[in-house]
Amino acid sequence: MFDRIWLNAHLATMESGLGIIEDGAVAARDGRIAWVGPRAALPGPAAETVDCEGAWILPGLIDCHTHLVFGGDRAEEFERRLAGEDYAAILRAGGGILSTVRATRAADEASLLDAALPRAQALMAEGVTTIEIKSGYGLEQAAELRQLRAARRVAEMLPVAVRTTLLAAHAVPPDYAGRRADYARLVAEAMVPAAQGLADAVDIFHDPLAFDSEDTRLVLGAAREAGLPVKLHGDQHGDVGSAALGAELGALSVDHLEHANPAGLTAMSRAGTVAVLLPGATLFLRETRMPDIAAMRTAGVRMAVATDCNPGSSPTLSLLLMLNLACTLYRLTVEEALRGVTVEAAAALGLQDRGRLAPGLRCDLALYRIGRPAELCYWMGRNPCIGRVLEGR
Ligand code: NIG
Ligand code: FE
Repeated sequence: MFDRIWLNAHLATMESGLGIIEDGAVAARDGRIAWVGPRAALPGPAAETVDCEGAWILPGLIDCHTHLVFGGDRAEEFERRLAGEDYAAILRAGGGILSTVRATRAADEASLLDAALPRAQALMAEGVTTIEIKSGYGLEQAAELRQLRAARRVAEMLPVAVRTTLLAAHAVPPDYAGRRADYARLVAEAMVPAAQGLADAVDIFHDPLAFDSEDTRLVLGAAREAGLPVKLHGDQHGDVGSAALGAELGALSVDHLEHANPAGLTAMSRAGTVAVLLPGATLFLRETRMPDIAAMRTAGVRMAVATDCNPGSSPTLSLLLMLNLACTLYRLTVEEALRGVTVEAAAALGLQDRGRLAPGLRCDLALYRIGRPAELCYWMGRNPCIGRVLEGR
């Protein structure tokens, strides 16, 4: 006896390729998937049956890279960029990320949460069931931890799973201007230990605009000592060897990668490190350099797709739009893009219990009124999501 069965649906299970099962059924027991297959083979009855009226069911979508807890916004900076100013120059002059740091430091936990909830709801409305949320706009211990607490509270307030990531090494705070290595040491020695129990992973901005390889080894080494998995924002504004370094450090993922070199990508493939593609940032920063998808395919690197939702470089609340951009800007196939927001996104977070429709996994589902899965990538700004299931409900 199952708790609930969804039938009269087509399934994209993500078990090898899209794993399509036409006229399929999904059965749940105790919040987990108990059975998946063609309706004709359905083994038993359930307490409740849901007629999906021909909808498509995918694993609940996973946005594996967001910064959705932050104070203020950057609409004014956007206008300055439209008038000709440049992202890196604004950051060097104390704006950019640092202006969001000022607004985030000034906000208490309740107002950070208030601002974050509607952002999370917008993602959820498209079928997202797991959201990764980074800190990185506090750049001092109390404010970083406040961001992580607000992120954790999102999952208490809304039916969505949240994974938190400490990104204290996102920029050098003004109080450490000219003392980057000292700040990296503070992150490694004080903030990483303090974030234990509040952060599920640790990230760093390894980039010509931010931290170097030595800082990265220090911070991520401390994370690994604390038993936390690591991730990198890497090779975004130049090739600093993030791909190879991420592989060497056993990172779950290296994200951005516009400038990654092929040898680094091969190392990532060997290490099982996922490439998280963030086409919203490429578009919004008007970058002409795209990640080398052909080299990723040749190397066999796993590719995930995420929003990078943040006020400065990717102010988007639509993972479906990112599917479209992954296909149109980066030329991913529909299959690569859809696996990128399900099974590969789960891998980028180190989660084995979701991202596919298979017995034993969490029963997190997204239901869409579409004729074929490609429609999820094809539309630019249409939301065909008609239902969402989190742990069987
Ligand atoms: O992921 N790359 C670094 N950090 C963010 C941008 C942050 C900002 O501009 O506020 C990103 O793109
Ligand atoms: Fe980011």
